[in-house]
Amino acid sequence: MPALDFPPKIPLARLPTPLQPLDRLSAALGSRHRLWVKRDDLTDAAISGNKLRKLEFVTAAARERGCDTLITCGGVQSNHCRATALVGAQLGFKVHLILRGEAPAEADGNLLLDHLAGAKISHYPHRQFVAELPALFQHWQSEYAAQGSKALCIPTGASDGLGLWGYLAASQELAADMKAAQVESAHWVCATGSGGTQAGLTLGAALGDLPVDVWGFNVCDDEAWFMNKVAADIADWEARFPQSTPTPAYQARVVDGYVGPGYGRATREVFETIGWLARLEGLVLDPVYTGKAFHGMLQELRAGRFDDRRDIIFVHTGGIFGLFPQRGEFDFYAEHTA
Ligand SMILES: Cc1ncc(COP(=O)(O)O)c(C=O)c1O
Repeated sequence: MPALDFPPKIPLARLPTPLQPLDRLSAALGSRHRLWVKRDDLTDAAISGNKLRKLEFVTAAARERGCDTLITCGGVQSNHCRATALVGAQLGFKVHLILRGEAPAEADGNLLLDHLAGAKISHYPHRQFVAELPALFQHWQSEYAAQGSKALCIPTGASDGLGLWGYLAASQELAADMKAAQVESAHWVCATGSGGTQAGLTLGAALGDLPVDVWGFNVCDDEAWFMNKVAADIADWEARFPQSTPTPAYQARVVDGYVGPGYGRATREVFETIGWLARLEGLVLDPVYTGKAFHGMLQELRAGRFDDRRDIIFVHTGGIFGLFPQRGEFDFYAEHTA
């Protein structure tokens, strides 16, 4: 990989995260591939998941620009918002969350942690959020300015040319993990929701000329949306951080078809996969991101999409707190009660 001029970061994540073989799963599938999981769900305890890698660069930029407030947005159960709320508390930023959807009667999962971390929270009806998001950011940024504060607006999922550095760095870490584990070539698989994780891994693989294919399984929208978004994040990175070496050609790969009933809602099969994997490997996935992507990966594996002998590395991007508000979707309680 050419030497990259990384911008400043505030170290927040416990890195490197483990690369762990899933040998019981590989055996259960009778797979020709060896399956692995990159445990980015272990970047920290409560502030876990992929967003921490991006926020290392975003919070450093906020400090550099003299900001004392972070404003960001997402769904009511956004992992990104929860990570921002907790990181903000840790570093002494005020945090304001613009959330899509009404406030539930009782806060659960990520929303509970947002409140616990002391974030200010504004809920907006779905339609208004979608139609007015840039104006809402502007409104709150002006409100803070009027109070003498300076706020940095962080886009959905911290997915832009700045946040992209997080998964560029992760691609270098994964390359080192593969070397240490003597994995010669691999498929990297991740859930893709706002595109930044996939964009960082895709660009990192191209910059390092790594023997890997990067696959994003979309959990919302469709293939075209993510092809555009990955290209937009990489173009933004290129424009904001011109490197001495030109951006290489890269290949974005999106596997569509596993969104199910919609963002945040999963099919029964996804819940079954989550339960099966927890029993088989002690690995916990969530129904919004990782469970959907992992389930899709298993279906595609069976259908022959990864039809070679390369290992498969699933990048576990976290999201465990999104599991709890959907506890009602599991039906094994009676079966498991002795
Ligand atoms: C647990 C989890 N996995 C995957 C993703 C997708 O990452 P990205 O937004 O970078 O596409 C997200 C956030 O959107 C997430 O919270």
